Amino acid sequence: MSETLAQRAEKALDSISDKIDPLLASASDREQVLQKICELLATEIPTYDWVGFYLTDPDAERELVLGPYVGEPTDHTRIPFGKGICGQAADIKETFVVNDVSEETNYLSCSPEVNAEIVVPMIKDGKVLGELDIDCHEKGVLTDKDRQVLEDICSKIVEELY
Ligand code: SME
Repeated sequence: MSETLAQRAEKALDSISDKIDPLLASASDREQVLQKICELLATEIPTYDWVGFYLTDPDAERELVLGPYVGEPTDHTRIPFGKGICGQAADIKETFVVNDVSEETNYLSCSPEVNAEIVVPMIKDGKVLGELDIDCHEKGVLTDKDRQVLEDICSKIVEELY
């Protein structure tokens, strides 16, 4: 029997850390490493359709600016804390998983094709440095495994790059 999309994604998530570690250890600058991480996640995990980083603007209070990403361009290049799923995750300083975006009232749509989204903040000394944002076209595909693996990646980014 052929594997489902979710089964393929779960398998790919099992081996993604081994592929992230060499990128983090490479001598490239932070933006380049983040771009490579986006490319790796978008290529390897079949449920991920848009993968990007929003970084906290050091010059604006509580505002996120679009950083490296892979996928369709988005109108949401600046997001205030509290707005949308990204802004809410920055406010609560916790991962925000939405498996059906039509049920989320505080949501900024990038594309009508997107049905699920996960946002993982990167935190150091209690401050939100930025976050990893992933959009999925398939509804209901995000699991605890996505959360664990992506939180682990974000912790490593904070340790190695900040
Ligand atoms: N959907 C996000 C906005 C960013 S896009 O997904 C790239 C939100 O509600 O914050």
